[in-house]
Amino acid sequence: MTFSASAPGKIILFGEHAVVYGRPAIAVPVIQVSARVTVTLTRSGEVVIQAPDIGLQISLADLPARHPLKAAIQRTARAVGIAQLPPCSLRIESTIPVAAGLGSGAAVSVAIARALSAALGSLLDDAQVCAIAYEVEKIHHGTPSGIDNTVITYARPVYFIKGKPLEQLPVGRAFTIVIGDTGLASPTAKAVGDVRKAWQADKMHYEAVFESIGALADSARQAIQQGAVELLGPLMDANHGLLRKLGVSCPELDALVLAARKAGAWGAKLSGGGRGGNMIALVNKEQAKKVATALESAGAVRTLVTEIKASQG
Ligand code: PMV
Repeated sequence: MTFSASAPGKIILFGEHAVVYGRPAIAVPVIQVSARVTVTLTRSGEVVIQAPDIGLQISLADLPARHPLKAAIQRTARAVGIAQLPPCSLRIESTIPVAAGLGSGAAVSVAIARALSAALGSLLDDAQVCAIAYEVEKIHHGTPSGIDNTVITYARPVYFIKGKPLEQLPVGRAFTIVIGDTGLASPTAKAVGDVRKAWQADKMHYEAVFESIGALADSARQAIQQGAVELLGPLMDANHGLLRKLGVSCPELDALVLAARKAGAWGAKLSGGGRGGNMIALVNKEQAKKVATALESAGAVRTLVTEIKASQG
């Protein structure tokens, strides 16, 4: 018997880093990329994990205790109330670039929790899936805000404040985002750790920057709800400026942000942990291709165009 589940990627539109310090942030799913997990129950043998994209084929018993895949599997078994997993194979496939701010780790955890709990006969609900993915994020990131696992579990735009109940974000009018990848792998934990050190050395300054970022996220929430898409561009530009102040941009990200604006984007900023990974640009749908081409000329190794659809009703 075979059980499959998939989960999308994500981008943070506003509020990264400040969200770790209790300020609001906005994130949306990116359905053009996804992680997919297929669990096949076998008659005998052990629990085997296959992740061909990263060249991994290993038995669960041979993975180190704190390996994120092992943690996701064991936490799912525990949530379902099963002490001993039956023999099975878990095949993990993903088109989400790793360490690029697109939520690849959280998407794999969400897909494991759903496919494995279904295979074990007790599909977990969204809150349980989200909680498992959050615990695994802690292994990846140390002190994650929880925004990645939340937006990926619910696969809807979210207005997120750490530790608060989920708030879905109604979208008044569709808008288009071009994502440009610097190609520089950037472990989020490092950027988050550096910001923490800087904050510890000068709390007044950094709290003020976080506060300004939070205010931008609040303005963006209103603009998105009201369908005032044209207001989002300047808010993105301002957010990028504040992220530079936090020291999480880099020359490659700045070059892509500038190239996007020059090609006609309404606004642009880095997205996620920074120091590499992705940037995003808000564009008129008709200009998406032009902006993507400009990003590629300015050094992006990959571009993606995604549309955030208007909410129904
Ligand atoms: O690099 P990403 O997209 O996984 O996002 C990190 C976002 C931060 O705000 C920097 C960290 C967090 O846990 O929210």
